[in-house]
Amino acid sequence: MDMLRDADIDPSPLAGKRVAILGYGNQGRAQALNLKDSGIDVVVGLRGGSGSTLEAEEAGLRTALLTDAVASADVVMMLAPDEIHASLYREIESHLREGAALGFSHGLSVRFGLVEPRSDLDVFMVAPKGPGTALRSLYTHGKGMIGVWAVAQDATGKARDIALAYGRAIGCGRAGLIASSFAEEAEADLFNEQAVVWGGVPELLIAGFETLVAGGVSPELAYLECVGELHLIAELIEARGIAGMKEVISNTAELGSLIGSQRIIDQSVRDRMAEVLAEVRAGRFAQELSDEETSGYPRLEKARADARSTLIERTYRRLTGRKEP
Ligand SMILES: NC(=O)c1ccc[n+]([C@@H]2O[C@H](COP(=O)([O-])OP(=O)(O)OC[C@H]3O[C@@H](n4cnc5c(N)ncnc54)[C@H](OP(=O)(O)O)[C@@H]3O)[C@@H](O)[C@H]2O)c1
Repeated sequence: MDMLRDADIDPSPLAGKRVAILGYGNQGRAQALNLKDSGIDVVVGLRGGSGSTLEAEEAGLRTALLTDAVASADVVMMLAPDEIHASLYREIESHLREGAALGFSHGLSVRFGLVEPRSDLDVFMVAPKGPGTALRSLYTHGKGMIGVWAVAQDATGKARDIALAYGRAIGCGRAGLIASSFAEEAEADLFNEQAVVWGGVPELLIAGFETLVAGGVSPELAYLECVGELHLIAELIEARGIAGMKEVISNTAELGSLIGSQRIIDQSVRDRMAEVLAEVRAGRFAQELSDEETSGYPRLEKARADARSTLIERTYRRLTGRKEP
């Protein structure tokens, strides 16, 4: 594995350069603030009338309309939602300086052809492996978040150096920057979202909760058992790895996990995981994401509304006293 840290990375490729951050959401806010605190000249590019303009300016950042920010910058980071990258790129393409660098924090839009960058541009990725809130919080505590970097197009011969200097400036070099490709990062990330942490795990929690409730257990106890313990295992795996986690739980829990794990996650699950990976690689998900955006997000809106009224969510609100968002 090719992992680089601050000491391996030359920060000078960004010296005297201006970086335009397009979007001030989850990643845009964190990356813009980390860059500023690393001494980089940053401008945040926003659409006209954006509610984020005031927030960014109050945080001490310079803001400009998207096309003006792009025209003034040597490095332009696409930090708006992936599904609008195609239309955003069409809007800014003619404003990008000759030989500028175009950066991404996810490989999706280049890997699946939503964006086909001009041939004179350097095209790189620095993808922090976690949310912007954590990227910012780690940076302000003198730490960093591990990141993945790649170059898709090296028009000037400097794309690698710019990518690494960028990753260092947002704090990823403090934890480690791993070399990858747009395809590898995009495919692995989309696979995980569907099959493992964001798709598989929540559905496993819900299935366990519903099985206990159907078996006569109260929703509150079912919730505490199946959902409430999740943060404990996450913290143990973070601190000790999966094998180390199993060593510190009780013998009862360890034997239960040995007996139950492969009965639940059996070969049929692995076979369906392989299907998900094949579909991701064939571009099926990227197409569904674009279709969802074009039609105004009907599937996401319905899923959000449906999820709020389920027994598991009502139980969560009863147990925590939290209100519906
Ligand atoms: N979220 C994560 O944890 C995470 C982690 C790693 C990588 N990434 C990657 O980082 C990139 C950004 O993701 P994100 O989650 O940070 O996005 P996000 O929070 O959804 O981005 C919101 C920002 O995008 C702007 N925006 C939305 N639609 C726009 C449009 N049509 N034209 C111009 N600006 C528009 C919004 O403008 P307004 O302020 O005007 O509403 C807002 O500033 C993606 O490539 C994503 O895959 C995300």
